[in-house]
Amino acid sequence: MDIDLRPVGPRDYGFLYRLLEEKTPEQNISHRAMPTWEEHVAFNDAKPYAEDYVILLSDVPAGRVYITKGLNEVGIHIARPFRRRGIARAVLKRLQAGGETLHANIAPGNVHSQDLFTSMGFTLVQHTYRWEALTAPPEGGRVRLSPWRVPHADCRPSNRG
Ligand SMILES: CC(C)(COP(=O)(O)OP(=O)(O)OC[C@H]1O[C@@H](n2cnc3c(N)ncnc32)[C@H](O)[C@@H]1OP(=O)(O)O)[C@@H](O)C(=O)NCCC(=O)NCCS
Repeated sequence: MDIDLRPVGPRDYGFLYRLLEEKTPEQNISHRAMPTWEEHVAFNDAKPYAEDYVILLSDVPAGRVYITKGLNEVGIHIARPFRRRGIARAVLKRLQAGGETLHANIAPGNVHSQDLFTSMGFTLVQHTYRWEALTAPPEGGRVRLSPWRVPHADCRPSNRG
């Protein structure tokens, strides 16, 4: 059986939507809620990744692999009926042959993926923590660290000097 990579195009959007539906919360770092079909189409039309392929096994869509712009983060997802046949390992090997540093963001509970990536020579370099706001942004837009000054009541004097 042959594994091929085909650049993602509109004819793949239905398959990619079904792949998203398969994701469990521990596999899904980027978004918890399923996007609507319209959001899914708009997201893919915007070509969000540096490289983005449907993985074909003997011409049948079996998964997706992408690399992000900037950090070269690899995302790979194999559809359930095609798992444990060595497809992800073969595709990662092919990416590694490209000679560039790669990254992967994997949720702590996703141990099978961690096994896959560590067995391919990836090493843990950081833990990423998320804090989710429970309230909507204030009126007037998001608050970031724009010029800002408040009396710092909790500021302790330094022990040094
Ligand atoms: C993780 C995933 C990509 C693996 O794809 P796959 O094609 O089934 O993987 P392979 O057949 O190449 O397996 C490679 C290794 O992964 C590990 N692995 C994958 N699935 C596993 C499972 N269900 N149980 C135990 N180990 C597993 C094993 O170490 C395996 O090596 P082995 O078969 O020699 O034991 C696939 O399960 C998947 O798409 N999961 C959902 C999305 C995801 O978590 N992506 C990774 C984050 S980017």
